[in-house]
Formats: sequence, C-alpha cells, structure tokens
Amino acid sequence: MPLDHQLPPAKQAVLDQIASGFKLSQTKLHEITQRFLEEYALGLSAYNHPLAMIPTYVTGVPDGSETGTFLALDLGGTNLRVCEIQLHGDKTFTLRQQKYKVSEALKTGEASALFDYLADSVDHFLTEISDSQISNEEALSLGLTFSFPVEQSAIDKGILLTWTKGFAARNAVGKDVVGLLQDAFDRKHLHVKCVALVNDTVGAMLSRAYASGDCMLGAIFGTGTNGAFAVKVEELTKLGNDPAVAKGGLMILNTEWGAFNNSRSVLPSTPFDQKVDRESINPTFQAFEKFISGLYLGEITRNLLLSLVDSVPSLLFSGLSTPTLNSHYGFDTAYMSAIENAKTAQEVKQVLVENLGFKLEAISDDDAAIVRWACETVATRGAYLSGCAVAATMIQTGHAQLGGGSGPEEKILKVGVDGSLAEHYPGFQDRVRQAIRLIVGEEVESRVEIAMAKDGSGVGAALCALQALKQAPSRP
Ligand code: BGC
Repeated sequence: MPLDHQLPPAKQAVLDQIASGFKLSQTKLHEITQRFLEEYALGLSAYNHPLAMIPTYVTGVPDGSETGTFLALDLGGTNLRVCEIQLHGDKTFTLRQQKYKVSEALKTGEASALFDYLADSVDHFLTEISDSQISNEEALSLGLTFSFPVEQSAIDKGILLTWTKGFAARNAVGKDVVGLLQDAFDRKHLHVKCVALVNDTVGAMLSRAYASGDCMLGAIFGTGTNGAFAVKVEELTKLGNDPAVAKGGLMILNTEWGAFNNSRSVLPSTPFDQKVDRESINPTFQAFEKFISGLYLGEITRNLLLSLVDSVPSLLFSGLSTPTLNSHYGFDTAYMSAIENAKTAQEVKQVLVENLGFKLEAISDDDAAIVRWACETVATRGAYLSGCAVAATMIQTGHAQLGGGSGPEEKILKVGVDGSLAEHYPGFQDRVRQAIRLIVGEEVESRVEIAMAKDGSGVGAALCALQALKQAPSRP
C-alpha cells in the first residue's frame, strides 16, 4: 500500500501467522510439482483417476494455413457465446460473436432445458447476427466448446463425467453432450450439425498454434482452471490398441488439472479453503481449481476477511460486516483485482464502498491495508499453484527438469492462455513466472512465452470442426 501503511504490531503478528499458512516455499513447490507428475502418469496409464488426462482425438496442431467458415458454440465460461469464425489461412481470422446469459435456473435445472436454450441461442444468432446462409442441402458445421470434464471417444462424441463451476443440470452426467445438443437442434429443425467437441484448453492451444505456428500448452485461468498439451500416442497407454488411433502420431490431451490432488495430500489447505469446499456444490471435487480459479478466490478471501471481523478483539471493520460481505460468494474475484490495482488506500476504500455496501467513514486505513493484504495473499498462492501446473507440464513434455536444467532442445516454449485471471488480474503472470523460476530454474523460465490465446474457444472450435471434416470418411 502507499499503501506502505504500517499496521500496529499486534495486528501485523496475527496477519503474519495467517500468511504463513498461505506461503509456498521452494521445497513445497517442488513437492506439489512432483505430485503433479505422478498424477499425470496415473492418468495416462488408466481411466478413472481424478486427473482424467482425456484423449481428445485431435491429432494435429494447426500451422496457420487453415481456411474455412465455421460456427462455434461456447459453454463453460462466464457467458454462453455463439460465434462465426472465418479462418483466412494466413494466421488471421475474423470473428463475429454474440454473448448470451445462462441463468442459475438453467445451470441447475433439467439438462434438456439447458440444451434447448443453447439451440435457441444458435437460432437467434443465425437469424439476427450471422451472414451464413442456411441451405437445404448442406447443414452448417458447428464446433462445440464445452468446458467441463468430458470423456471423449471420438472428435465428435463424449460423455460428461461431472459438472464443475457451479453447473449441476440434471440428466446430463453420463450422456453424450454432442448427442444432447444435436437432439436440441433437431427438435428445432435447425439445419446445423455439431461435428466437433472441444474443451476450452484445447481451443486455447489450437488457436495459439494457429496464430504463432506452435504451442506447448493451452491453459485456462478463469472461472475454472485446466490445461491441455500434446503427447505421443504411445504415451497414452490407457488407449491400448484403439484402432481409431494411429500409432506414431501426437494427440492433444485435456488434463482436467482442476481435479489435481483431490485428496489434498499436498495442497496447502487452510480453514478458509476447507469452508469453501464444504459449502460448494461439489465438495471434495475440483480441489486444485478451488485454490486457483476466479470462481473461488473471492470466496476464500471473504472467509479470511470474516474471520478477522469476527476475531476477538476484532481486527477488521471494528467487528462490523455488511449483508453483501456476509453472503455466500458475495466477494467477487473482480473486486480483488480492483483492490490490487488500487494506487491509494482511498481507492481500496472506494471498491469496498461501491461493491460491498460499506460506509466510507466506517473503513479505517488499517482496514484498507488488511483487505489489500488478504487479496494479495490469496491471489499469490493461486498464481504460484498455477505455476506448478505449467512447470509440471514443461517437465512432462521433456522441456524442463525439476530443480533446473532444460530438455534436449532449447526452444521458445509457447503457452496460450485464456480466462479472466490471466487477462485481468494484476501481477498474475509475474507471480506464475516467479513460481516457474523456483521450480525449473531461470534459464528455462526465460524461454517461456505466455500469451493470450485470442478468442481461443471460438477459433479452437472452428479449427477442430475443420479437422473433424477432414477426418470424416468422404461422402458418397
Ligand atoms: C472444467 C474444464 C475447463 C476449465 C476451464 C473446469 O472446471 O472442468 O473442463 O477447461 O474449468 O474452463
């Protein structure tokens, strides 16, 4: 804080004590990364492990020369989006899109209602926004970006394993999501065919590769978190002798790293985390995601702030709270971003006044400093853990070694990222990099190039739809 506000020693001592539960030493970062590698290995060798390591049946990475016009439907971030993407074949594209809100009722109601809403949104897009001509002969090809754990059995088929990120629609888990969507299109007589299913991480990887010729990792740090990277098909031993998969090639894997260490054996749980998990829609699942992603960081911070309000004697806001601060998920991660962006104590106070219903005169300089500290403490731990996931992937793909040392090739390691934390959270990338340095050393870290995967979900779905059409047996 110029913000270089000194707290009274007694208050500072309590904060230091709490902070020690959030700090990740280099040894701890190594331990977590090592465990990541072990869980990666388990997920590659067998089904039904929390780290699902899902084969995507996407067997090529684009190089920017791809062309075509496709529709994409993107469910799983903050909004539902329908897009029309034109790939120009020179690493560039044009995208037209419309966002649609998904209500809580749709997220938690009957799946058929949710999928009908998806079809209605595509219908609205085609009628009001798009230039695409619906012909009677040929259906429009659509790629579905569906950002939940889906066990794929083909590029256009996959069974929903579980919902995440606050979704819980009934009668979807265990079903083929492409089938659910296609049925909804057919009920509405929409001449659209869903030809490809893609996770947002895979979309991020494909779109970064399209724009820059190569990509080691596609990762999302947003409402949820996850990563995708390519492996040699031989390393995916759990596929056995699947005749649909050519040996000798590469396949992109959706790791579903949000479920890393669901046992919490190495994750640095504090009482604030335990409470978030216990009160969540999916207790004990998505453990890693609950330490990192935008859906949960604000809630961890809220629990921490309330513990200081309630401590005796009170350390925050003179023991007073507000209805918003008292409500579950009332402290949005976007407020943390605004608070960490603040240049003065006055600006921190303004965020609290505008979003949490505090009266300006009720917030002291100590309070502003403590809130700012809480946001930084929770967000830094999340970014460091994100660094473990990136570093583990660098090691897994042979580009780095735990403790330092590179792989055989000293090349630029491109990472395509998307999501609100990656895009907007102040200092997120620097903190991720600090952790990567501590895990694999400075030399390798300096070759990591993290860049936003522009419109990854839309462009990735288009690239995947293109690949699906190429792979499909030719029509008679
Ligand atoms: C989902 C992933 C997704 C990630 C980021 C997680 O909750 O399980 O499939 O990639 O969120 O959107």
